[in-house]
Amino acid sequence: MPSLTSVTIEECLDDHHYQQVAKLFARSASETYISHSELKYGLATEEGKWVTDMADAMLRRLYGLLGSNGNDAASEYLLAVARRGDEIVAAMLLEFEVASDFPPAVTLHDIIVDKDERGGGVGRKLMEWTEERAKARGAIRIFLESGISNPTAHAFFESLNYRKTAIMMMKHVH
Ligand SMILES: CC(C)(COP(=O)(O)OP(=O)(O)OC[C@H]1O[C@@H](n2cnc3c(N)ncnc32)[C@H](O)[C@@H]1OP(=O)(O)O)[C@@H](O)C(=O)NCCC(=O)NCCS
Repeated sequence: MPSLTSVTIEECLDDHHYQQVAKLFARSASETYISHSELKYGLATEEGKWVTDMADAMLRRLYGLLGSNGNDAASEYLLAVARRGDEIVAAMLLEFEVASDFPPAVTLHDIIVDKDERGGGVGRKLMEWTEERAKARGAIRIFLESGISNPTAHAFFESLNYRKTAIMMMKHVH
């Protein structure tokens, strides 16, 4: 497993990198990743089934959310990447809601580590970075949602002291 010390984490401000992140998701996220937000935002057509143009769909989502920063002072999106040299080996999408009348919080919308890099501590490093950022911005909680068929991710989050607080339910009505 490559060394973790050569991995750096940074906020992704260059939209050229959005394409690399979208491709990383498209090649690395298995069907177990799919939860309610992938259905809601058009990345998956049904449980266990990505759209055929997943990279394009993810790119549209990134442009939509990150491009909306500044429109709504109460909610701010941040895309962070983990790099090894020039290569993006992991990415995550966060939403900071720290400027409203509600308890300040961060939502982790997405996190993905390249298949070849899993189990080497990159995910933990991203989550520690998130926690530091969240605390620095005054957030008191970090929320996340994870697909019900993704026990690896659940074990990962539980190892970082996240605990289950809800069950998301869905019904097809059309
Ligand atoms: C979940 C994911 C982000 C974890 O990232 P990672 O870099 O592989 O995780 P780390 O190596 O930092 O592991 C940190 C801890 O999580 C736990 N963990 C990680 N993978 C695990 C697995 N397969 N089974 C059980 N526990 C696991 C371990 O406690 C580990 O600590 P340890 O190495 O000291 O034992 C990564 O596997 C991934 O990208 N999965 C696909 C995308 C995904 O499911 N994302 C979550 C969507 S909600």
